[in-house]
Amino acid sequence: MPIDDRDEVRHVNRLDATGAGDVVQARDVHGGVHIHRVEAPFAVTPSQLPGDVRGFVNRRSELSALTNLAGEQPDDPHAAAVTVITGTAGVGKTSLALHWAHRALDRFPDGQLYVNLRGYDPGQPAVPEEILDRFLRGLGVPATAIPVHLDERTSLYRSLMAGRRMLVVLDNAATAAQIRPLLPGTAACLVLVTSRSHLSGLVARDGAYRLGLDILHEDDAIALLGAVTARYRGQDQRHELVELARLCARLPLALRIAAERAASRPMMRLDELIADLPSSRDSRSPERGP
Ligand SMILES: Nc1ncnc2c1ncn2[C@@H]1O[C@H](COP(=O)(O)OP(=O)(O)OP(=O)(O)O)[C@@H](O)[C@H]1O
Ligand SMILES: [Mg+2]
Repeated sequence: MPIDDRDEVRHVNRLDATGAGDVVQARDVHGGVHIHRVEAPFAVTPSQLPGDVRGFVNRRSELSALTNLAGEQPDDPHAAAVTVITGTAGVGKTSLALHWAHRALDRFPDGQLYVNLRGYDPGQPAVPEEILDRFLRGLGVPATAIPVHLDERTSLYRSLMAGRRMLVVLDNAATAAQIRPLLPGTAACLVLVTSRSHLSGLVARDGAYRLGLDILHEDDAIALLGAVTARYRGQDQRHELVELARLCARLPLALRIAAERAASRPMMRLDELIADLPSSRDSRSPERGP
């Protein structure tokens, strides 16, 4: 900042230094100077699975089917193995996928990606662009390096997944189109999809294996009721639990709701609680059809 003949302050902005590094050029500077560097992306092993289901009951044959599928030799080394768990609403597809995944973590040393595709939620289902954005960030790609177009996002995702042994859980999917851009191009990765729909296109075109999930057997339905209520109620009779399970159609979601209701009313007898259930009232209603 030399002073010239007229005693005026003249600003000279000259860069003499050479070489790499950050350079800040400015005229007048007021206040403090804060320099923020863009940090290199941190290396992280994605571990995105939500927590396991508490008091998970049975599903032994489905769990071992998933384990066998994960251990099979791939048909095609250039495509991820895909398993689709299908079944009606509330039958336990998400719970099964998460329960198995938590027990199979050591098969996937490079981590797990998880997304709820919201295929049957009242709002909009998740679109592949949005999911890839999340997955790429999860794989350590800085936000500024994520391409705009879907094709480019998919390419970058497949490049990053190549050579990794990862589990990808695509939960609550609606359509095959929602899933296809999220399929890695390597058999070292396993994709676990859950859906209320059969996703026949994924089975026919992408070689996915479909695993159908049914309602619980009576003993398992009773075990689920017991797992939730055990700490609160001890006096329930087996025949009452059988009746409650029947009224819930042995559907895990309905069983869990009924069990939570029973647990929150520990002083209420189970037969009174059963009589109070809407499904029980319906079954006594004279207006009921044949
Ligand atoms: N095997 C099980 N043991 C204990 N609880 C279970 C089991 N399966 C499901 N549940 C319970 O039942 C409820 C519904 O399960 P889940 O959300 O997995 O169903 P879903 O088939 O994925 O439903 P949706 O089609 O709505 O996605 C959950 O609260 C879960 O905790
Ligand atoms: Mg689900």
